Amino acid sequence: MKTAITELFGIQHPIIQGGMHYVGFAEMAAAVSNAGGLGIITGLTQRTPELLANEIARCRDMTDKPIGVNLTFLPSFTAPPYPEYIAAIREGGVKAVETAGRSPEQYMPALKAAGIKVIHKCTSVRHSLKAERIGCDAVSVDGFECGGHPGEDDIPNMILLPRAADELRIPFVASGGMADARSLVAALSMGAAGMNMGTRFIATKEAPVHPNVKQALLDATELDTRLVMRALRNTERVLKNKGVDELLEIEREKGATLKIDDIHERVAGVYPKVMIDGEMDAGAWSCGMVVGLINDIPTVKELIDRIMAEAEAIIRQRLTGFLDGTIEPARTRAVA
Ligand SMILES: Cc1cc2nc3c(=O)[nH]c(=O)nc-3n(C[C@H](O)[C@H](O)[C@H](O)COP(=O)(O)O)c2cc1C
Repeated sequence: MKTAITELFGIQHPIIQGGMHYVGFAEMAAAVSNAGGLGIITGLTQRTPELLANEIARCRDMTDKPIGVNLTFLPSFTAPPYPEYIAAIREGGVKAVETAGRSPEQYMPALKAAGIKVIHKCTSVRHSLKAERIGCDAVSVDGFECGGHPGEDDIPNMILLPRAADELRIPFVASGGMADARSLVAALSMGAAGMNMGTRFIATKEAPVHPNVKQALLDATELDTRLVMRALRNTERVLKNKGVDELLEIEREKGATLKIDDIHERVAGVYPKVMIDGEMDAGAWSCGMVVGLINDIPTVKELIDRIMAEAEAIIRQRLTGFLDGTIEPARTRAVA
């Protein structure tokens, strides 16, 4: 399948693995890129630019396909040395960067001078248009369903994607709630040129996380995510667990007076405890509603091959069948 996204990044399939803290290590990114998608190393999981340079080099040893790096610009008291992270990306020969959080405007000249394609993750049409204006090559449109930070507008992808398609001139991928061939074909129908998946990629054999995390994804349903930090206007969708229940209780007590210090223990330093040690009740870690669609732990290649084969079947058989009458009306409730 060829789309504006496969052409932009030089990849076989229009599938991107979004940056994920303590998941987007070299093993994850290489597995996705080797399977024909765009694998992304999470820049800030590497505590220094030197460590990111090592991680890029490790990934290069595992794949000769295009890879990307995620740079997240979140509110923080001591900003990481972003120019040095960008230097590590440039010197590592990486040609794709996924930016997220705040606008990457101030770093665009450095990224563009290095010939890097920038895809900015946005949770609204207005931020997507700003990304287009400042020279981003593409946008990852992240709906309310998404794992991680859905923003404060709460617009699900069924509305957000066609709205983005109506306004944007640069290509975009659908992000949030994407799990399978049905997601991909729906995203393409709504004007996207591909899809970005986070949560679904954690439930794969290669994802370098503790087995407890994968089991938690198998056990959870679409009812098991929670929104935290809304009062701080830093909303995050996370998987429900004991630490999150305690956090929500504090949020209820404090109401609009909530401060980050009140919940610090349940939101800071949680990722290594969950992803490395498998402490599933440690606190808030991102997870999308799409967890309700996860029922197996395939290899990344099996997952991507299945998505592409089933997408073709949906388009050629189910959708075409509606038009040419080759699908029995009684069968139209299920995937062809
Ligand atoms: C465990 C986890 C960690 C994440 N960490 C980051 C991150 O550090 N930076 C970022 O831009 N997005 C992060 N995300 C968001 C993903 O890149 C992606 O946008 C999101 O997962 C898409 O929604 P989905 O989970 O429904 O597929 C994270 C998501 C998950 C599930």
